[in-house]
Amino acid sequence: VNRQPLIAGNWKLNGSRSSVVALAKAVAAGVTSPVVEVLICPTSVHLADVLGVVGNSPVHLGAQNCSDAISGAFTGEVSAEMLVEFGCEYVILGHSERRAMFHEDSALVAAKCLTVQKAGLTPILCVGETLEQREAGQVEEVIAGQLDALLDAGGVDSFRQLVVAYEPVWAIGTGKTASPEEAQAVHALIRERISSHDAAIGEALRVLYGGSVKADNAASLFSQADIDGGLIGGAALDAASFLAICEAA
Ligand code: G3H
Repeated sequence: VNRQPLIAGNWKLNGSRSSVVALAKAVAAGVTSPVVEVLICPTSVHLADVLGVVGNSPVHLGAQNCSDAISGAFTGEVSAEMLVEFGCEYVILGHSERRAMFHEDSALVAAKCLTVQKAGLTPILCVGETLEQREAGQVEEVIAGQLDALLDAGGVDSFRQLVVAYEPVWAIGTGKTASPEEAQAVHALIRERISSHDAAIGEALRVLYGGSVKADNAASLFSQADIDGGLIGGAALDAASFLAICEAA
């Protein structure tokens, strides 16, 4: 199977209207390769401005979170259909920051995945262990539990229109990257878990690595057999770094 590499920039809670437009312009101007799919995920309030810049470019647009509800009395939430209307094709779900700081559990994340898929969006389902869990030898168990929540809720078919991002929590924003071999081992586990239910879906599933990916470590990570691109935080806020990472994919 030929899996198209995907490089996704997660801009997190950063930027102003003018700075995100400038960043989006610089990214759009620098994307040349049709081989790598490039995605940027600004905050929801910046989507309209960024769509104005990348709408006619090869750069894809995504959001960082979404409600599991379709509409109604859910103060402060944003729905999948709203994201579609603002040009989104992807939405990051279950990022470790949301799991840790906003108390999202795997059942809620699974419900969100199913809701956004119905609206036509592709979830980027984030999974990953903490340092404590790694040191306790629980990596496989933690990742399996995070994947199984969606397998239980939606079956293996819910992995057809979905991307998984493996983000070891200890590598996020810390400057510590998993070694290419450490990351590959977990990526292989993730693919194997899905393949054991459906070989074709597992083989086609794109699994991104996230956690302190920079221009100088990207190529060695992306050269691994089961690493199909990256979910980039800090380095995505600098157009030159982000574009260099895209080049490495
Ligand atoms: O979603 C992106 C990740 O949390 C990685 O962030 O590249 O700043 O470590 P980072």
